[in-house]
Amino acid sequence: MKVQHRLLVANWKMNGSVALVQTMNETLADISLSAVDVVICPPLTLLHHFTVQGNVQLGAQNISQHNAGAYTGEISADLLLEAAVTYVIIGHSERRTLNLETDEQIAAKVKVAVQAGLIPILCIGETLQQRQQEKTEQVIARQLDAVYASQPELLAKSVIAYEPIWAIGTGESASPEQAQATHAFIRDHLAKLDKEAASNIKLLYGGSVNGDNCSALFAQPDINGALVGGASLKAAEFAQICSSAQ
Ligand code: G3P
Repeated sequence: MKVQHRLLVANWKMNGSVALVQTMNETLADISLSAVDVVICPPLTLLHHFTVQGNVQLGAQNISQHNAGAYTGEISADLLLEAAVTYVIIGHSERRTLNLETDEQIAAKVKVAVQAGLIPILCIGETLQQRQQEKTEQVIARQLDAVYASQPELLAKSVIAYEPIWAIGTGESASPEQAQATHAFIRDHLAKLDKEAASNIKLLYGGSVNGDNCSALFAQPDINGALVGGASLKAAEFAQICSSAQ
């Protein structure tokens, strides 16, 4: 594995404020981020309040699979690029569940993002029931294959976030061993499509990551960073997570 900097992504979901952006700008400016890449994905209206400084970049939480047109409420790759966005979260479980996004739409979005020069952060993960039924690997393989089996060239331009749905917003993170085992499975599975890309791809863990559990997660060989929800809304705690990843 030749992954260098860990990648820390803050997913603010539909939270935050201009005041929180200002606090985050100041907090991140005060810490050394030389050996970590940080991406903040706030609601779209807050993007322009962020200071893109050092290794801190901007991300979006969704993208349209269409380039332009009559798609009320949607946002295109070109519009994101104009807003200085470089990463985009695609296929978050909340969008799969609440917005009924299908594997096919998610695959199309990953393609559109890569073609535009954005880096997609593809989210995958199983429900509690699927884990209890020992279907985690089957579900994840399906989610990965839906995007990459027919377009393996996108793999080298992607980031993947493993977010077990039962760990999101519950305070119950996967254990480092559980997360590592699934990440190793993801890397092995992707190696069947593109060995080099699978070896280099950043695999993020997401689901109740916080200042207390992040170090043990980052100590795992196949965990290359985190996708952080709730804890990324607390500037000091998110800064601590970033520092732990250095
Ligand atoms: O995308 C990040 C997210 O779904 C995890 O949220 O609050 O459990 O860190 P949280």
